[in-house]
Amino acid sequence: MTKISLQEMTAYAKNYGFVFQGSEIYGGLANTWDYGPLGAALKNNIKALWWQRFIREEPNNVGLDSSILMNPAVWKASGHIDGFNDPLTDCRKCKSRHRADHLIEAQVDGFHADGLETEVLEAKLVELDIACPGCGAKDFTPIRRFNLMFKTSQGVLDESSQAIYLRPETAQGIFVNFKNVQRALRKKLPFGIGQVGKSFRNEITPGNFIFRTREFEQMELEFFCRPGEEKHWFDHYLEASKRFLTDLGIRAENVRFREHTAEQLSHYSDATTDIDYRYPWGFDELWGIASRTDFDLKMHQAHAEENMEYQDPVTNERFIPYVVEPALGVERLFLALLFDAYHEEALEDDTRVNLKLLPALAPYKIAVLPLLKKPHRDQATTLFNTLSKHFDVVYDESGAIGRRYRRQDAIGTPFALTVDHQSAEDGTYTLRDRDTMEQIRLNEEDIIRHVREKIRF
Ligand code: GAP
Repeated sequence: MTKISLQEMTAYAKNYGFVFQGSEIYGGLANTWDYGPLGAALKNNIKALWWQRFIREEPNNVGLDSSILMNPAVWKASGHIDGFNDPLTDCRKCKSRHRADHLIEAQVDGFHADGLETEVLEAKLVELDIACPGCGAKDFTPIRRFNLMFKTSQGVLDESSQAIYLRPETAQGIFVNFKNVQRALRKKLPFGIGQVGKSFRNEITPGNFIFRTREFEQMELEFFCRPGEEKHWFDHYLEASKRFLTDLGIRAENVRFREHTAEQLSHYSDATTDIDYRYPWGFDELWGIASRTDFDLKMHQAHAEENMEYQDPVTNERFIPYVVEPALGVERLFLALLFDAYHEEALEDDTRVNLKLLPALAPYKIAVLPLLKKPHRDQATTLFNTLSKHFDVVYDESGAIGRRYRRQDAIGTPFALTVDHQSAEDGTYTLRDRDTMEQIRLNEEDIIRHVREKIRF
């Protein structure tokens, strides 16, 4: 891993087609990002591997795709209307706007202020003599709480329109469908329901590229178990989450567990541990693993007046299950993977950027490169057509072969296939490995077998 700054990563991601500024030709829209061809492919691969690991390979777990727009009563029950807010304070001198918890965290190494009451935060600002990062003044307005949900309205006519919200987490779509899924799939405890989808939060201070945005994607699993078994499943999913990260190629030393103190816990949780990644600005939250107790199902039972109990098929006991929730942001993992994979390497007569992504994550698995345009193009095109039925393949015939290899290395393509004069004679191609740069000759059938083996997760 070569350490580069966030600015350098932002420029790299743009130049190679991973991430562009949103609405760029109109001057952008603050903190919105569009995912280019490579970014879209990498995101899809991240989501597919999460689904594979946490849904497909877990016999107890099933998937869901619930609506972004939900009955507003859901957010009343979940506590988001009354309690989902950030502490906002303004500098009286330079008028800059801040999150009070972030001001304190920036001052005290390792301190995490999320979840603290307004009065506690105000006292800390004074006690720690915190100054405005913009102008150095120590004169802040009282903290105001700012609800993070995006409000919109449903219905065309003013009189019939209803205020609704864009979901701030995918989790509630799972809770409200708990009974539907349990009954339809005849699931027995313990079992999990997972989903991947967009969430929206009107963050006061978005930033750090794609780390904190107002529109983002979550991969959440709600794992339902008997009361008393939550500690076991909490530990299980904490370890499973860490293993997923290291299996994806994230270095263990760049990941740490951070347990929330009693004051930092969200209103729904009796234990939470975040998995932090070492971003260029320091360790910061990548993945939250929360023990949510029976809070959500109980609240929905009360507000919707619907029975949310589970009946044990053997003992006939009825109870509301407890929930363990590993909740991960797609973009935060995307960014961590890029930082971990990015390498600048000195070669004998050259330098190269090598994006050492796990082959399963790479946007393209194979680059098909005719050595010369005219004589090799037809065979290379036929090869592309065959391989693209199996893998994500890119075709490139422009420029010197060395330059084309460099470009593929820089976007993480694990294999480059060169079509040359020998290919026409014996149907073999040169397969070059991104990391070792070693080359072997294989025929089409062996290439498919070799690559399939290497991209298995
Ligand atoms: N259902 C629980 C929940 O949503 P959270 O800690 O608020 O918990 C889970 O969010 C994960 O979603 C975070 O660990 C992070 O990876 C991602 N996330 C949250 N807010 C985000 C934002 N504004 N931008 C990007 N990712 C975000």
